[in-house]
Amino acid sequence: MRRRIAQHLHSSACLPFFFAATAVAQSAPTAIHVDESAHVFRIDADDTTYEFGVNEHQRLQTLYWGERISAKDHAASAKESLGAAAFDAPLNTTPQEFVGWGGGLYVEPDLKITFPDGNRDLDLRYVSNNLRDGVLSVRMKDISLPVTVTLEYKVDEETGIVARRAIVENHTGKPFVVESASSGTWNLPRGADYVVRYLSGRWAGEWTVNEQKIQPGKTILESRRGTTGAQNNPWFSIRTQEATEDEGDVWFGGLAWSGSWQIAVELDTVQQVRVTGGFNPFDFGYQLKPGTTLETPWFYAGHTSHGLGDASRKMHRLELHSLLPHAPQPKLRPVLYNSWEATEFKVNEAGQMALTEKAASLGVERFVMDDGWFGARNNDHAGLGDWTVNPQKFPHGLKPLIDKVHSLNMDFGLWVEPEMVNPDSDLYRKHPDWVLNFEGRPRTEGRNQLVLNLAREDVRQYVFLFLDKLLTENNIAFLKWDYNRNWSEPGWPAVAPDAQKNVYVEFTSNFYGILRELRLKHPNVEIESCSGGGSRVDLGVIPLTDEVWPSDNTDAFDRLRIQHGFTQAYAPGIMMAWVTDSPTWVNQRTLSLEYRFLSSMQGSLGIGADLTKFTPDEMETARKMVAAYKAIRETMQRGDLYRLVPPTNGSEVSVTESVAPDKHQAVLFSFLHSSTELYPFPRIHLRGLDPERTYTLRSIYGKVSNDTPTSASGSYWMHKGIDVNLRGDFQAAAFVLQGESR
Ligand code: DGJ
Repeated sequence: MRRRIAQHLHSSACLPFFFAATAVAQSAPTAIHVDESAHVFRIDADDTTYEFGVNEHQRLQTLYWGERISAKDHAASAKESLGAAAFDAPLNTTPQEFVGWGGGLYVEPDLKITFPDGNRDLDLRYVSNNLRDGVLSVRMKDISLPVTVTLEYKVDEETGIVARRAIVENHTGKPFVVESASSGTWNLPRGADYVVRYLSGRWAGEWTVNEQKIQPGKTILESRRGTTGAQNNPWFSIRTQEATEDEGDVWFGGLAWSGSWQIAVELDTVQQVRVTGGFNPFDFGYQLKPGTTLETPWFYAGHTSHGLGDASRKMHRLELHSLLPHAPQPKLRPVLYNSWEATEFKVNEAGQMALTEKAASLGVERFVMDDGWFGARNNDHAGLGDWTVNPQKFPHGLKPLIDKVHSLNMDFGLWVEPEMVNPDSDLYRKHPDWVLNFEGRPRTEGRNQLVLNLAREDVRQYVFLFLDKLLTENNIAFLKWDYNRNWSEPGWPAVAPDAQKNVYVEFTSNFYGILRELRLKHPNVEIESCSGGGSRVDLGVIPLTDEVWPSDNTDAFDRLRIQHGFTQAYAPGIMMAWVTDSPTWVNQRTLSLEYRFLSSMQGSLGIGADLTKFTPDEMETARKMVAAYKAIRETMQRGDLYRLVPPTNGSEVSVTESVAPDKHQAVLFSFLHSSTELYPFPRIHLRGLDPERTYTLRSIYGKVSNDTPTSASGSYWMHKGIDVNLRGDFQAAAFVLQGESR
């Protein structure tokens, strides 16, 4: 995040009226326009327009964000709002695009600085703009101090989602402390008719969708945990009161940051909703040396008039087509086996080899050995940090197991938890100073482990080098990168006291740096972001990892709710979902193997059961389900998700549908929690099909009512619908609608 300021300063571009920038390819105009005479910046992409301008005081203010408006409508210049008596000066009532804390500002500031002379007043005014390679840079400077902020904007043309961040530069010649820094503020059209939706959770209970009317005051979504956390996820959506899953205005967004973060949703005194997001200001205090910069995370946000479902689909497309490694064609997720629930720490060569054969016979494509293979790691009390193969468990190293996996036509994956150390480890005995700590204070353990201070250069190097060695010496296709606790005592005694809080930025920057460097050096290796479940899922980690683990809760029924929450913000294609044993360890609930498969097949399919205990019948069922998944995998991982009936609000049923991007295939998953009072399963009306195309219905598992045609038009399935025959408790069915080829 920190870098030296480039020699040249951005020059003020003199652009003609409604200058349409020429992007990398000279021909196509970008969606970003600068109206120099009105001092208005306008972004038109997909069905969205975002507009802001420079007002008469040279401050930046939002002018419009919503459904696309005609290019014929020339923008009116920005004009500061009237204040509200002496108590709320215009600074507070104007929808500021990016405002420093200074003057009499009471709304959430975007930037707050303490200067060495005690001054804490920052008043940023517009200086210049520059539009290059699809990135609009708008430069601001304090009224007297040489502190500049460059706001950068880019847009995803497919979805109209705008990404923005701020770059703070210190030209004062002295260090100063950035007390808070956001990426910017998104201002919604003024009004009080809004409902904010956000995600909350905890270990084994992530991804709960919450909704509340936006009232005067502030809702703070945040993590103070050092990493993303599950208590809230850095995502928001705001709908009008009338908006539903399928219709109405929704504004939504996500912050690309895996450290402590905050998104503040504020309804101010003039009923203006402001969404400000960036580094969490709690305990923040970034010492910015002269001649250096601080870059805030990218903050993505978009709008749709087509409801919550479309808001999610736009996020999914952004992730699949723009953010993920290998976007716009991210690699399809292989069917994976993971040993964790079967063996826990009791891994060894013979046991893992036995599992490989079982897994391969089901059609599994990737075999992953989880925790327990290294150091003195026989339980969670010891060994973390000592990344050498345990010689008792693997006397000949990892090679025999990896060779075996390859001989069975699978690739091999391995679990690591690079940022952690058990006090009972050789690494900690050698480097007790490598962990986050305050000098002379207790070191709080979580799962018997401490957090290595990745901000330190020696720790960063150690982590990179052991991972690099592991990947160089072994034929490893996949790393499951785990992270099983949050921070405590976030001190960094090795640096001067006034630079210690930089740990909040540098830790995460180094985490990203290691991932980036590893991917460059080992371009074929894929990585899963796991944090004891779904505690490190965000738009910052997604470009550096290929998939994520949403939760340690593998109960297939609980997963329906978890997956419903996850897909609000993140694509089902990156959501790893294992089929595990029944009764599940989580709830002691018994679920059929078919139910468990259908629950997991809505994402990226994995198997985590103890296959050595499967009966021949169970093996046969599993084989069929894996084959069925492969036939729909592309639709599930790259298609459009429609959440037809959510498993929330006490609903006894839940239904999802995924439609292939070219609409040649749709897959329907139906779940019945419990039958009551003879009510039939509700009729399902599909969505997103080609109305004129003929689709043939095929069952993956389960039955439809006798009068259902085997083939009919898309319009038939969407309007007349389909009756699924489900009765009993914890029942499931799934069907494929295969479109005629064209
Ligand atoms: C937490 C992960 O979420 C689990 O899947 C497993 O990898 C354990 N850690 C291993 O310690």
